[in-house]
Amino acid sequence: MGKIIVGKISEITPGKMQKVRADGKEVLVANIGGNFYAVNDTCTHAGASLSEGTLDDCTITCGWHGAKFDCKTGKLSAFPAKIKDLQPYKVVVESDNIFLEV
Ligand code: FES
Repeated sequence: MGKIIVGKISEITPGKMQKVRADGKEVLVANIGGNFYAVNDTCTHAGASLSEGTLDDCTITCGWHGAKFDCKTGKLSAFPAKIKDLQPYKVVVESDNIFLEV
């Protein structure tokens, strides 16, 4: 398991989410009240980029068909059909740098 730098804390302000690339994967990093969380950016329903959806507190809503996921755990929280949870990633902040453990 390695640690990959994906950005600076100043680039993702509180309440925002951003897509980053780490180890060939597309990952969504969200800032919730100054704490950073990361999950796979690709919606498990039909492949939308979740960072193009909306973030409300810690709930990510897919912009295509409205699936909702918890940004801390990646767990599906609302959708009419059973779809997979998102893979969560561990985030480490050191000084002003954001790292993912992948
Ligand atoms: S692609 Fe995300 S809900 Fe359909």
